Amino acid sequence: MRDGSSFFITTPIFYVNDVPHIGHAYTEVAADVLARWHRQSGDDTWLLTGTDEHGQKILRTATANGTTPKEWADKLVAEAWQPLLETVDIANDDFIRTTDPRHEENVQKFLQRLYDAGHIYAGEYEALYCVGCEEFKPSSETLDGTGEYEGQKVCAIHSKPLELLQEKNYFFRMSDFADRLLALYESRPEFVQPESVRNEVVSFVRQGLSDLSISRSSFDWGIKVPWDESHVVYVWFDALLNYITAIGYGQDEAEFDRRWPGTHIVGKDIVRFHAVIWPAMLMAAGLEVPEAVFGHGWLLVGGEKMSKSKLTGIAPTQITDTFGSDAFRYYFMRAINFGQDGSFSWEDLAARYQAELANGFGNLASRVIAMVTKYFDGVVPAAGEPGAAKRAVQKVVADAATHADAAIDSFAVHDALAAIWRIVDELNGYITAQEPWVLAKDEASRERLGTVLYTAAEGLRALAVLLSPVIPVATTKLWAALGAEEALGALQAQPLREAGRWGQLPPGTRVSALAALFPRIENVSE
Ligand code: MSP
Repeated sequence: MRDGSSFFITTPIFYVNDVPHIGHAYTEVAADVLARWHRQSGDDTWLLTGTDEHGQKILRTATANGTTPKEWADKLVAEAWQPLLETVDIANDDFIRTTDPRHEENVQKFLQRLYDAGHIYAGEYEALYCVGCEEFKPSSETLDGTGEYEGQKVCAIHSKPLELLQEKNYFFRMSDFADRLLALYESRPEFVQPESVRNEVVSFVRQGLSDLSISRSSFDWGIKVPWDESHVVYVWFDALLNYITAIGYGQDEAEFDRRWPGTHIVGKDIVRFHAVIWPAMLMAAGLEVPEAVFGHGWLLVGGEKMSKSKLTGIAPTQITDTFGSDAFRYYFMRAINFGQDGSFSWEDLAARYQAELANGFGNLASRVIAMVTKYFDGVVPAAGEPGAAKRAVQKVVADAATHADAAIDSFAVHDALAAIWRIVDELNGYITAQEPWVLAKDEASRERLGTVLYTAAEGLRALAVLLSPVIPVATTKLWAALGAEEALGALQAQPLREAGRWGQLPPGTRVSALAALFPRIENVSE
């Protein structure tokens, strides 16, 4: 990607029927890491997240709690969903709620445009509906209920009974777009990623598309259909439009042109909505389709998708209260291949925290700062002539930076981290081999000692920059302790695509004390 290009990235907007669990936080962190990387590379970046507040699921939850859906949504947004962003340190540029007037008004404009262009018609509908998914289910996606649901059809995802709905609905002529969608997947293979998810989408559309019911009249918690106010807009049709109403669709053309098309990060369970229905809607409106849709895997607990409804949800604060937000972000981005499912375990989290963050990276930083303080009165020494070992470090840093940037471009966040970690390992190996504490005993090795500590400090400079999108708190502390803030300016202003260029930390920079970046954790409680 070229510096300065527009990079608009989104998370799904979350249902406010319940509080967030670590699966939701996982999506947020992945999108945030990608956004921070691009922003720090000089791309014109915009990270959008928000909440999905209409529909039957929210209405029922609110009613069951003796309140109105709007009051319920206000409470959950303020008490759970916005705080989540702080819990895992998300630097979003906007937060959209589907109850915002900027959204509701422009959803109506979009719908009217489709209606006027003949893409919408009225029809009768009878089908099984899952309120958990907010989706009509074809028989291929239903199961026979057992136990208390014996004799009923249940949803394959939620294991809850489906409801037979019989209504007059408005329909979107989605079937008209099957060929254009197939041509899109063919001509732009990177439109849906990863490959496994793309294949599923292609074979789904190859079977042919039905028209989509896009309104409901049996309840009124939603956006009114502009030409028939006895109907509200189907919640998914409403929700998908957040990606354009948030950036000015219908009201700020310049902003819309600047941002759109965007990149959508979603769980694989909702890829079909994003890679089939959404581009068809955009095509019908004569707008560009998204840049890409990336479907990530699920966090599994006991081999099953973690979910609140199945009582396997873990609150993000359960992890961050003990390990901190950086460790949360690092762990999920490093331990799970982005695009595949991954099992969460407290043991794995604690082991990686200790081995990689505390011993690998944190100790390295503390030792280098301590040695510069002790042997050079806190002033980063100048490096002498490059030796072979120093050149090897420079090469590892340059290669890791290039590799990481390419990995981020193809959504392989885990791979980017693995590449950056080669610098951590190289520097630790370099210090062990060079034994600066031995060099310090002999005045004749003074220049050599300076070279070793400059190399280590400059390696830390590169690490701080490369890791700042993933562990912003620790890298900011390291940046300050290295004295780089004064010498080079703010960490987040360092161009990421130049992080691998050697020799940026000026000799003479004054370091300051660094408290343990990842302190030892005594009792890991579950
Ligand atoms: N409201 C819709 C999205 C509308 S986007 C226009 C929705 N909301 S959700 O709150 O149910 O889910 C939001 C996201 O969380 C989805 O991408 C889903 O895949 C993700 N996750 C929910 N449980 C998850 C895991 N156990 N693991 C990883 N991600 C999970 O769907």
